[in-house]
Amino acid sequence: MKIAVLPGDGIGPEVTQEAVRVIEALGLGIELKHAPVGGAAYKAYGHPLPPETLEIARASDGVLFGAVGDPDCDSLDRHLRPEQAILGLRKELVLFANLRPAKVFKGLEDHSALRPEVASAIDLLIVRELNGDVYFGEKGFRTTPNGEREGYDIMSYSESEVRRIAHVAFRAAQGRAGRLCSVDKANVLETSQLWRDVVIEVAKEYPDVALSHMYVDNAAMQLVRNPGQFDVVVTGNLFGDILSDQASMCVGSIGMLASASLGERQTDYGTFGLYEPIHGSAPDIAGQGLANPMATILSAAMLLRHSLGQDAAADRVEAAVAKALEDGVLGRDLGGNANTTEIGDAVLERL
Ligand code: IPM
Ligand code: MG
Repeated sequence: MKIAVLPGDGIGPEVTQEAVRVIEALGLGIELKHAPVGGAAYKAYGHPLPPETLEIARASDGVLFGAVGDPDCDSLDRHLRPEQAILGLRKELVLFANLRPAKVFKGLEDHSALRPEVASAIDLLIVRELNGDVYFGEKGFRTTPNGEREGYDIMSYSESEVRRIAHVAFRAAQGRAGRLCSVDKANVLETSQLWRDVVIEVAKEYPDVALSHMYVDNAAMQLVRNPGQFDVVVTGNLFGDILSDQASMCVGSIGMLASASLGERQTDYGTFGLYEPIHGSAPDIAGQGLANPMATILSAAMLLRHSLGQDAAADRVEAAVAKALEDGVLGRDLGGNANTTEIGDAVLERL
């Protein structure tokens, strides 16, 4: 079993290191290969996603990814910015299905931005499309006829792109409570109208799943009003980006949300994928031991489950995180004072 470890920028290396310690402690003989990515790779090799890094990722069974983003790189041409590394990996490795589960851990009910009784009902999965939408459409700057500067980004989805993510979402709903809510903006956007039409077509193959549709503005409201109503939410790249950050605060902290990005390629042990915390590189707190590594540790658990077929090990890691939280091991993001390595130690002890 081979894992590519891409720590990246800011707090990426710190949180990734804790997840690596957890993986090594399992004693499964997994081979770990580190590679540079993001601003760190740009500074060392002149590109945020060097070809060697992409090859190491491709040759692995799963990729553990930290975070990318570096204020030093904000004025670079867009194709050289750190964020292009993660977008490039998602696109090059055809990782089109992003699973972002959000569930309140026992002991965290009081840490949500929502009232505890509202927060404790949250157990949802956001299935975000990752290879299309306004993220990958034609973009640029131009001058309008009256001489004004104008920026543009084209939003589009093809029916095959919608169909493949819809299948992932329907199957996920079958494995959960059987409810799927498709989020779009079909009252305004043609991209969304096609999205909705295709989701309705695919639904015919899943008569056991209850499908509903919601406009994204309403979904943002419902996510704080009554998040317990959601089981699986499927949505496009941009809406999924926004709603998943929102969901993270509903369960307590962005330092808790893990994610899996999957495609169709099978490894010897499961489905090839990339696993990352949904938070960013947080340059303001980097290198100070202030970051919560739990989202990355939980991402490693998802890697063990989906890409390596190690379900029992994944369960053990998740249980160790849950136990640490129950025992009051909280990072600064949750109002506690445990630092990054202390949280890693606490999870290791309980493992
Ligand atoms: C995420 C991040 C990325 C995204 C950035 C870093 C490009 O916000 O994974 O949610 O927008 O997808
Ligand atoms: Mg995001």
